[in-house]
Amino acid sequence: MRISDNMRVNFRLVHNFRSVPDIVDMITTKTILIYVVLCGFIGYSEQKVRVKTQYGSVKGKNVYTVGKGKAYVAFQGIPYAKPPLGELRFAAPVSFDRWDHVYDATKPKSTCVELYENKGNEDCLYLNIFTPNINRSLPIMIWFHGGAFVFIYGSHTLNGVDYFIEEDVIVVTVHYRLGVFGFLSTEDETIPGNFGLKDQLMAVEWIHKNIHHFGGNPNKITLVGQSAGAVSAQYLTMHKRLEGKISGIIQQSGSVLVPWALSRYPRTGAYVLGGKLGVSTTDSTILLKELRKKSTEELRNASFSTHMEVVFGGGTFNSLLFIPVREPPHKGSYFSSMAFEDLKRGEFKRIPKMIGINSLEAAFMIGEFQAFNKYYQNYDQNIRRYLPNDLNSRNELAAKLIKDHYIGNHSFTSNISNTVHFASDDQFVRPILKDVYLASPFAKTYLYHFTYQGNLGKRNRTLNGVEHGEELEYLFYGKHQGNIDNDDKKMREKLVKLWCNFIKTGNPTPSKDDLFNNQIWEPVNADTDHTTCFEIDKKINIIENPHREDVEFWEKIYSEYGNRPFDTY
Ligand SMILES: *[C@@H]1O[C@H](CO)[C@@H](O)[C@H](O)[C@H]1NC(C)=O
Ligand SMILES: *[C@@H]1O[C@H](CO)[C@@H](O)[C@H](O)[C@H]1NC(C)=O
Ligand SMILES: *[C@@H]1O[C@H](CO)[C@@H](O)[C@H](O)[C@H]1NC(C)=O
Ligand SMILES: *[C@@H]1O[C@H](CO)[C@@H](O)[C@H](O)[C@H]1NC(C)=O
Ligand SMILES: *[C@@H]1O[C@H](CO)[C@@H](O)[C@H](O)[C@H]1NC(C)=O
Repeated sequence: MRISDNMRVNFRLVHNFRSVPDIVDMITTKTILIYVVLCGFIGYSEQKVRVKTQYGSVKGKNVYTVGKGKAYVAFQGIPYAKPPLGELRFAAPVSFDRWDHVYDATKPKSTCVELYENKGNEDCLYLNIFTPNINRSLPIMIWFHGGAFVFIYGSHTLNGVDYFIEEDVIVVTVHYRLGVFGFLSTEDETIPGNFGLKDQLMAVEWIHKNIHHFGGNPNKITLVGQSAGAVSAQYLTMHKRLEGKISGIIQQSGSVLVPWALSRYPRTGAYVLGGKLGVSTTDSTILLKELRKKSTEELRNASFSTHMEVVFGGGTFNSLLFIPVREPPHKGSYFSSMAFEDLKRGEFKRIPKMIGINSLEAAFMIGEFQAFNKYYQNYDQNIRRYLPNDLNSRNELAAKLIKDHYIGNHSFTSNISNTVHFASDDQFVRPILKDVYLASPFAKTYLYHFTYQGNLGKRNRTLNGVEHGEELEYLFYGKHQGNIDNDDKKMREKLVKLWCNFIKTGNPTPSKDDLFNNQIWEPVNADTDHTTCFEIDKKINIIENPHREDVEFWEKIYSEYGNRPFDTY
């Protein structure tokens, strides 16, 4: 006798829990008997699932997806590195020791300390594995969350992986050090920086070595991320240590070429931070020793005010502070070269890539433009603020051309639609499309443009367009989502299918499918001027050269006024 899918769904919904053991706590002994019988039917003799790793055994728990009630196993809070405390604060991660007991991975561990909110813990180098079946050899998506390298944007993306599970994809989500803890740098070997990226690298190596124990195929790993997570995924594909270990990448609204992928004033920022904490020195050895003595909260607080002063004071939009840096070449450096030049030379893993943008990325900054208006007046006081840092030019005429193109004869924030247009292009469109043009001659590159304005993405739109992060609401399940309408459901189906097709086959549309009006998504052909793009909306459109006029405008600015070599673009 088998229990129907419907019954399983009801079983879960009635209790409004996704965890079977949680339910057990709530019910009486009489119903426990029924529960045991039910479990027998479902096919579990045990509620907990035990799996080996090279470090020791871990215990996960059986759970069910929210959609179809499909059973899967969640392993949460598996340590992939020693807690980065004491001498390991501001240092590269060190691998975890073996353990003898069975490691309890049935509960989430603490998340990393964030910049804007007083939450998280420095002891946070854990990963979560969600697997549909530990006995198979399934493709894997490793997910890197966004949040500008300083916070966790879309925390539901770290465990709301239900729709991927329903497509028989294993999802691993990785916690990495954020903000000052992940990215403090004095640009020397004492505090080289990039600790958060080094965490990610160690996590991917851990997954590559151990995922077969969880039903994963180590030869089928796709790195997927949004925003800073997309930047992270791409930096990983440029790292020598992962040669041959990654089979695909999905970059959602992020690239190593965005201006916020590289810190511009890390050393200044580090010493300003020291000063705020009473460490007046320009000696990095002293700074390191003293900052290791400070409490988590002292560092977090001081890094917040340093971030605000250095970032906004030093040139709004040109970069952020506690993010990746170019390290001096030394053993253990994550990267020392210029990303733009590396991409241009084809120095990265030539694996299939899916990359895209939402139609109005910077609409999420409207609130910020209002809240920090005084900083943005910089643009009116000094027109050179319009020049991207990576242009390597302070040419006033170029700055004037940029202002004329976007803002015209107004103040920077007087017309929010213009401000958002500028910020979207400057922070996302220009660098991400440049990434596409540089990468496509070397690797299969699938470009999307997400234009679907659904309620799930955003309820209250001030401007026409899809903002940063809206696609996450369709790809991941979040408790806040509630009931969704049929159009949104359809969009969820489409996005999940495209992503999973790519993760399984390296091609988002391996065959014609009604879901996509039988349209085939072709990779960008680098030999023509017609950049093919899959425009994802209620109906799929194949378009060419998205944001063409703006992209051509910037090409002209960079070719006439820019000075190579470029790091970002
Ligand atoms: C996996 O295989 C083991 C050993 O053969 C078996 O006990 C277990 O029930 C299987 N689990 C699943 C989810 O199929
Ligand atoms: C950090 O900042 C918060 C909020 O401003 C404040 O309440 C707290 O006392 C500060 N902690 C330290 C150690 O400075
Ligand atoms: C732009 O503003 C300046 C000063 O406010 C004014 O002199 C000029 O006529 C304006 N130009 C246009 C084209 O509106
Ligand atoms: C803002 O600028 C756009 C053109 O870029 C124009 O269409 C719109 O009417 C302007 N809005 C306001 C409130 O002036
Ligand atoms: C919707 O947006 C408008 C305009 O920004 C705002 O006044 C209103 O409070 C918003 N409503 C909700 C529910 O967020």
